[in-house]
Amino acid sequence: MKSEKSTPTPATDLVASGYKIAAHRERIRDYLRGQAIFPVCLEFDLTSRCSRTCRDCPSTRAREHWEVSREFVERLFAALGGNVPGLLLTGGEPTISPLLPFTLGHARASGFREIAVVTNGSHLDQNDVCAALLAHASTIRVSLYDWEVQVLSGSESIFQKLQALRRRIDAGASPLRIGVSALTSTARRGRLGRLVQAAAAAGVHWIYFHPRCRHWDRGQPQPEEQSGVLDEIARLRAEFSGQLDIEVSSQRYQDFPLNFSGYHAAHFMLVVGADRKNYLGAEVKYHPDFVTADLGDIPADGFLWEAARLGRIAGQDSHSYRALGSRHRGVLYNDFIERLKRHDPAAERVLAAPPSFRFPHIL
Ligand SMILES: C[S@@+](CC[C@H](N)C(=O)[O-])C[C@H]1O[C@@H](n2cnc3c(N)ncnc32)[C@H](O)[C@@H]1O
Repeated sequence: MKSEKSTPTPATDLVASGYKIAAHRERIRDYLRGQAIFPVCLEFDLTSRCSRTCRDCPSTRAREHWEVSREFVERLFAALGGNVPGLLLTGGEPTISPLLPFTLGHARASGFREIAVVTNGSHLDQNDVCAALLAHASTIRVSLYDWEVQVLSGSESIFQKLQALRRRIDAGASPLRIGVSALTSTARRGRLGRLVQAAAAAGVHWIYFHPRCRHWDRGQPQPEEQSGVLDEIARLRAEFSGQLDIEVSSQRYQDFPLNFSGYHAAHFMLVVGADRKNYLGAEVKYHPDFVTADLGDIPADGFLWEAARLGRIAGQDSHSYRALGSRHRGVLYNDFIERLKRHDPAAERVLAAPPSFRFPHIL
């Protein structure tokens, strides 16, 4: 990993960044004044089941599998009362849940302004899934898993599905944007270019790279070796400029120290698993040590501010947090907010003039 001592300079028009939370200046200021705030984004799993079994996947730690009910979706959205603008549906595999079309439509009706669906892409040829995405979702992010093994042959059928989806977007003037994500490591660096080329040819709008991690099962994800990856991504950005956007959260690849007293990001990003439990952050989802609230069958109005939940969030700090090494977005946001608490001038400059973000409500 590269070492970075000062606050890294943010780029512009980002899908993901350790500073994305800065797009919500008023909410951050209210939080720093001690006011109760609604989260910016709900990350929610309709199911913990998946149609794939990937080695080292963060979801494989689930020992049993869960599905939420339609009533739970309705009550959760009602409890948030239209005050949460972003919805990120993930899992498990959201496209195998029979509730996906209903949930997307109901999310729009409940006031979510941006909706993203993270998927393995296998079911993008199902008409009910596609129709609901085209009508209601802002973006999909399709995770590509096999490209590093057979370079692209394993992903070929996914790219065909994306090409067909892109034709439907263009024909119907749908606002849906197609993103794909791929996990990086030093070993895969030399193959990123062919992947970008295939994504561009399929009509993908943006591609996001993030570090491949291990040790999810211990609640202690750690990135694999990543040296040279950021340089290769910078080179590809120049080569494919104007064809598709190549995105990366550079802070995830750097090893500047992270400090926080309290997992601040849990107030901005609400992570709810298909087991109806609220977890501290996405990097510890389904890990029993990091449940902040059990929502039960019917989420109660006001569950966000129950004293026990607030205490569990406040009780986490960077000295003891096992998943710190993941440099996941929640951990990066915690560090940024902690700097604001301490009136760090570099962090205050970012808050005063944040970069522009695509899908700013999808934290
Ligand atoms: C667990 S999947 C769930 C959603 C959906 N089934 C999918 O495949 O995108 C969510 C995210 O986990 C990420 N992921 C899977 N294995 C990973 C690993 N070893 N390290 C880091 N992220 C991983 C994927 O890239 C994906 O974006």
